[in-house]
Amino acid sequence: MNQLEELDKLVSGVDSELESVNDLNELQQKKANYLGKKSILASISASMKDLSIEAKKEVGMKSSKIRQLLEEKFEAKKKAIEDAIVNKKLENETIDVTLPGYKLPVGGIHPLNQTIMDLEDLFVGMGYKVAEGPEIETDEYCFEKLNLPKGHPARDMQDTFYINPELLLRSQTSPVQVRTMLAEKGEPIKIICPGKVYRRDADDATHSHQFMQCEGLVLGKDITLGDLKGALLEMFRKMLGEDRNIRLRPSFFPFTEPSVEVDVSCGLCGGKGCNTCKHTGWIEVLGAGMVNDNVLRMCGYDPKEIQGFAFGIGVERITMMKYKIDDIRNFYTNDLRFLNQFKEEK
Ligand code: DAH
Repeated sequence: MNQLEELDKLVSGVDSELESVNDLNELQQKKANYLGKKSILASISASMKDLSIEAKKEVGMKSSKIRQLLEEKFEAKKKAIEDAIVNKKLENETIDVTLPGYKLPVGGIHPLNQTIMDLEDLFVGMGYKVAEGPEIETDEYCFEKLNLPKGHPARDMQDTFYINPELLLRSQTSPVQVRTMLAEKGEPIKIICPGKVYRRDADDATHSHQFMQCEGLVLGKDITLGDLKGALLEMFRKMLGEDRNIRLRPSFFPFTEPSVEVDVSCGLCGGKGCNTCKHTGWIEVLGAGMVNDNVLRMCGYDPKEIQGFAFGIGVERITMMKYKIDDIRNFYTNDLRFLNQFKEEK
């Protein structure tokens, strides 16, 4: 067989041989057989030196054509194998977008924070601003400027954590009143200040060494106790239900004169009397009063020009009423069985 025939034979067999190959290593092997240094094609090239010039030309041209043809065939096969590999991979890795996803646990808003947010919304709607103050407070702002000089017996009402004789963990949010009055320098004020307070109380179902209050202060011309009652009634009805009523009882706080204790009608019995309200129909919820003249003067206000009221809401107390919770410790023990009940399902 001369070289030209050999070349033809080479091409005629390649297609059927490539058909069964579906692996890149095998293809590489076959390519070496056809086109490598020890291939038939290489031996034909090597044998050309003995041919006539004419025949050399003819065999040379044909073998380079065939080399090119074979290279194209191997390249095409290589591409086909690679494509098949990718397609198989894609097929195995397809994502079924209709399968349900993983449910990641999401937190909820703590019921106390929810109450504070509700109070803020409500009072901001009535034209109040929200003020803040530090939890580490001075004795001067927490007590002295609120008409509670050192040694005053009413200090015993709030057993306080002292850091040193002048610094303490605030036992009430009332010092934010002082800070706001000093900053506003005699101008009218309408604020609430929610925040944490601390007292040296033993924890039980109704006491916690750390709890939350929301203070309110309104100063202006001709503000009366009637304005206080109106604001508080509005607040309780919005927070607890339109059927609620409130009543004011005389009380004592050094920073207000007169001072009142505010009761709200019991939501469980509708005011008829039950165990929760100790059969009175009323539940005590906050302290309030008209800001004491001494406080106004100490904080730069002239009581003849400007008067007003203040109140201090117990955030836990009102949250417990709203959600019928019977132990204040639930708010602080981070038990998910409790907290999850307040989570909105998303
Ligand atoms: N600070 C008082 C307390 O913690 C509550 C209070 C009573 C606040 C009367 C007031 C107020 O602003 O006027 O017991």
